[in-house]
This record gives sequence, C-alpha cells and structure tokens, in this order.
Amino acid sequence: MSDGAGITLDGVTKRYDNGLLALEAVDLALPAGSFTSIVGPSGCGKSTLLRIIAGMVEPSEGQCRRGTGMPAFVFQEPALLPWRTVDGNVRLLMELERWKPPEQDARATEVLRQVGLADFGHAYPHELSGGMRMRLSLARALALRPDLLLLDEPLAAVDELTRDLLQEQLSQLWRQAGCTGVLVTHNVQEALFLSQRVVVMAPRPGRVVQVFDVPFPFPRAPELRASPAFAALSGQVSATLRASTTI
Ligand SMILES: Nc1ncnc2c1ncn2[C@@H]1O[C@H](COP(=O)(O)OP(=O)(O)OP(=O)(O)O)[C@@H](O)[C@H]1O
Ligand SMILES: [Mg+2]
Repeated sequence: MSDGAGITLDGVTKRYDNGLLALEAVDLALPAGSFTSIVGPSGCGKSTLLRIIAGMVEPSEGQCRRGTGMPAFVFQEPALLPWRTVDGNVRLLMELERWKPPEQDARATEVLRQVGLADFGHAYPHELSGGMRMRLSLARALALRPDLLLLDEPLAAVDELTRDLLQEQLSQLWRQAGCTGVLVTHNVQEALFLSQRVVVMAPRPGRVVQVFDVPFPFPRAPELRASPAFAALSGQVSATLRASTTI
C-alpha cells in the first residue's frame, strides 16, 4: 500500500517491431488503490497495455508513469512449479527476495489462509482443482504485498460458479491488500462486479472508446449481480463493446 501506486498513461502508442500498431494514443489515469477493468475484443491490445503498465514493454510513443510501488502479475495460466508444494510455490518470490525464513513462514501461512488454502500447504499443484490453482497463483502474487496487482484473464478457465466465488474472493483480497488493481477480462459482468471503472477498448488500432464509472459500493454482495441497476449498466457496457467490435 503506497501513494506511489497510481498510474498515468499519456498518449501511449505501441508499434511492435513487425510494424503492427497495437495501441494508439491511450490516455488513462488509474488512482492509487483503485480497481479498474479493461474489456475489449481479442487483439485490441489489452495484454499489451497491461505489460506496459507493468514495465515489461516500453511504449513507442507517449509515457506510462507509475509510482515506485512493486507490481505483481497474474496470468490466465497459473504457472505453478509442479515439483513444489503449495507452500513451496507461495514462498517462491519471498525466497527470490531473500526474506528471512521466519518471515516467509508467517507470510505463507497468512496468504494461504486468505485464499482458503490453509489445509493444502503440503499438496502439489496437480492435486488441486483449477480454481484452487488460481487461488494459489493469487496468493503467490499477493505474498510480497504488491502495490499494483495486474491480472490478465485469471478466471477465464474456471467454471461459472467457481468464477463467481473467485470474483468475490478477489474483491475481498484487493480490499484487504489496499493495492491498485487492473484486470483484463472478456466478461462484462466480471469487470463490473470487481471494478470502480471499466475501460472499453476497440481494435485496429487498439484504443480506449469509453470509460464507465461503476457506482456500486463495496463490499459487493453476490446479489448485486441480479439487481436491475447492475443489469442496466451491464447492458450499456456490452452495447459499447459490441459497437466497437468488427469481425
Ligand atoms: N510481441 C509481439 N510482436 C508483434 N505483435 C504483437 C506482439 N504481441 C502482441 N502483438 C499484436 O498486438 C495486437 C494486440 O495484442 P494483445 O495480446 O495485446 O491483444 P489482447 O487484447 O490481449 O488480445 P486477447 O484478448 O486475444 O488476449 C495483436 O494484433 C497481436 O498480434
Ligand atoms: Mg490478451
């Protein structure tokens, strides 16, 4: 948690070496501690934008300013080490950062409890369900107390019920962590349920077409998804998304 975790993108354009214009003139301001989702058709530059925010990819033009806070990235594939236990996977980044063993013990116990895996520390990834693997991946990302949590379609591969439950857990974890969250998703309801703002992008070239404010207070109850206000906003975002999608 820090004031340094806000992000400002100013006229960010990305042209890959093969000449492809993946992003054009993207302006966005993501306040520290906020949660924003990015939706848009396949290939519109969502992952490119997230990588620029993470500092993994440099813009060709424009600037991405990010505070000194530490980013953590969670991908669609949990990318766990199969020969390490749940506990061993959670410790991975703490070991790389040379945390002292007692601090690792305490933090591993804490984050595994937060994601509901306290009883699975000795299990191996292949012994977990898809949703549990994703929670482990989240725990590993949160272990270092990142200021910035970047999520690229982390829930795309789980069934609908698990997905709803994981959204509720993710929302709670983000609030507990106090970090800035940015989620890429294809699912409008997921974007609305988790976020304070939803950014709709369009392809060729990738650009922001509209930013929706999501006014529902936190914590958000599961019943919110069935409310008329949620359905109305979801309809507006979906219509904007459809209008910006050409196949
Ligand atoms: N390393 C790269 N080199 C060249 N072109 C790339 C590279 N990475 C992505 N692209 C291109 O940039 C465009 C945007 O890709 P990106 O992965 O950001 O899209 P996306 O919105 O995340 O798509 P999806 O929803 O399918 O994940 C695509 O046309 C893609 O082919
Ligand atoms: Mg992508």
